[in-house]
Amino acid sequence: MIIQCSNPKAQYLAHKDEIDAAIQSVLNGGWYILGNNVKEFENEFANYIGVPHGIGVGNGTDAIQLALASCGVSRGDEVITVSHTAVATVAAIELTGADPIFVDVDPVYFTLNPGQLEKHITSSTKAIIPVHIYGHPVDMSPVLEIAKEHNLFVIEDCAQAHGAIYKGKRVGSFGDMSCFSFYPTKNLGALGDGGMVTTDNFELARKARLLREYGWAERYISHFAGWNTRLDEIQAAILRVKLKYLDRDNAKRRKIAECYHQELEGLNLSLPKTSPESQHVFHLYVTRLNNRDKLNEYLSQKGIKTAVHYPKPVHLQPAYAKYCSNQNLETTAGLAEEILSLPIYPELALDDVYSICSTINEFFGIDK
Ligand SMILES: Cc1ncc(COP(=O)(O)O)c(C=O)c1O
Repeated sequence: MIIQCSNPKAQYLAHKDEIDAAIQSVLNGGWYILGNNVKEFENEFANYIGVPHGIGVGNGTDAIQLALASCGVSRGDEVITVSHTAVATVAAIELTGADPIFVDVDPVYFTLNPGQLEKHITSSTKAIIPVHIYGHPVDMSPVLEIAKEHNLFVIEDCAQAHGAIYKGKRVGSFGDMSCFSFYPTKNLGALGDGGMVTTDNFELARKARLLREYGWAERYISHFAGWNTRLDEIQAAILRVKLKYLDRDNAKRRKIAECYHQELEGLNLSLPKTSPESQHVFHLYVTRLNNRDKLNEYLSQKGIKTAVHYPKPVHLQPAYAKYCSNQNLETTAGLAEEILSLPIYPELALDDVYSICSTINEFFGIDK
């Protein structure tokens, strides 16, 4: 039997009747783009995050580009983020014409290290993008403080952290704007592409809403040059169904993480940590060990699929190497060699988690 690392089909099957009915209702309704489902989902999701505005878009990368553009980021500006992220974060910065500037991550939580920010701020810096990687919130208080001091926008990348909490508030409610992906494997995943920008700023929300559709304030009249990135009605209808289960599904992910912790503690691999002011949503369960490739191979032979998020930091990839000079990203570079993501998704049976753990114990020569 194969155990997948993530499994969006299992989630579809878990809610099949409701999702099928939602899709059918859109098909019968005859309105397929920016209709009632998108509007309702924008409201429901923004409300869940704890802000007044949600703008549904085509995917998470577009959400970041749209947020940056709404804040006025353009060619010649600099945007600070991490290299330890999905390439999408950096691609979105480049698409605005701005230059990405990389800071290293915290060695414990693997999220943006706020202590590294100030030395990278220049007169061209316009924004900071903290990435809540793996579902663990960035330490936002110092990030917000530094941004305020230097008059910078903060745009949260929440693509991996739907529902995560920092100091009692959900991520996506701290920045000037925040960006979500609904890629099928995400904690809240569509059955196709989708994304959302959230904000509590009316003017920024208005700008983003216009930009997502040709700069139209009224149909066919462009007030400024925008583009086309719309969440569609079918995906919005599916997401409305799944949003109702998000907290329950995140609790299941935490339960799986707890099992891993119990069963793998004491082995020669380090397990993910959660900061005291955070609630982790375990989009990924990322371990760290010296002989990563050997464990990966061993698990693969036993039918257990793992993954590496990510095998090469963005600043070392051919497309972005030009941003590499003078960047001392020691923690980031070290991580890529040693991290291994174990299977985690809400429908993963605890029996399977125990079986993964005993295979890992076996690899380390422990008979449990
Ligand atoms: C951290 C991060 N940012 C941005 C994105 C981009 O999302 P999308 O794939 O929907 O464009 C992703 C998803 O892959 C991600 O993991």
